Amino acid sequence: MNIIFLGPPGAGKGTQSKRLEARYGIAQISTGDMLRAEVKAGSEIGQEAKTLMDAGRLVPDSMIVSMLEKRIQQPDCAKGFILDGFPRTVGQAEALDEVLARLKSQIDVVLVLQVDEDALADRIAGRFSCAKCGASYNDVSKPTKVPDTCDVCGSHDFVRRADDNRETVASRLASYRKETMPLLPYYEKKVKVAFIDGMAPIEDVSSQIDTIMQEVEQITQK
Ligand code: AP5
Repeated sequence: MNIIFLGPPGAGKGTQSKRLEARYGIAQISTGDMLRAEVKAGSEIGQEAKTLMDAGRLVPDSMIVSMLEKRIQQPDCAKGFILDGFPRTVGQAEALDEVLARLKSQIDVVLVLQVDEDALADRIAGRFSCAKCGASYNDVSKPTKVPDTCDVCGSHDFVRRADDNRETVASRLASYRKETMPLLPYYEKKVKVAFIDGMAPIEDVSSQIDTIMQEVEQITQK
């Protein structure tokens, strides 16, 4: 099962795709996480990407496509993958189609999280994660159960992303509208595209996705 998650910054793609990974045993691939790992490692790609990411702009297609092509051929993708944050341009989608055709594979469903733009800046400004295990939280919608203590590993060390500020959100949203929204008509011509109310509470969003996934599983098993 190969899934694409689309949605503006802060829509909940990471939250929901990590849950799907656990539920279906297929690999979650976040190109944002891959780029942040390159930035942390201080690689040439990371240095080039950092300036663009901090400004809320997309990195060049050529940089991200070759990373993604290698990643989806790793053993943990044998049962499928969930693309979180890729493709983000029609050029990336076309490149993905070529790679998948070569691998005799295809996308089974595109899940689109729809969220009011007004809510996104608050979600992003409230996001933080555990520095040790990476568990994701939100000041408002998903605080830790015990203050300043990670629910998963008990660490007291938390981090916030460099691009999670209100100024950068505006340019990330502008990139989404201009570069990524044209992917909707692109995929609607090719594959099942399912729209999800991302304004609902996290568990309700998960339930909507489960219902869609049951339908997709029935179709792919025929
Ligand atoms: P990336 O890391 O992909 O960031 P993004 O697309 O901006 O998405 P986010 O991670 O901010 O949000 P999300 O939708 O995953 O939301 P989350 O689940 O965390 O990309 C970062 C940068 O890398 C880009 O700007 C670009 O520069 C570069 N890049 C990456 N991929 C690229 C590509 N393919 N091409 C070119 N450049 C690329 O949720 C957000 C918060 O809301 C959390 O705190 C969460 O707890 C909370 N929340 C989630 N769901 C709900 C809910 N239903 N109700 C209330 N709160 C909720």
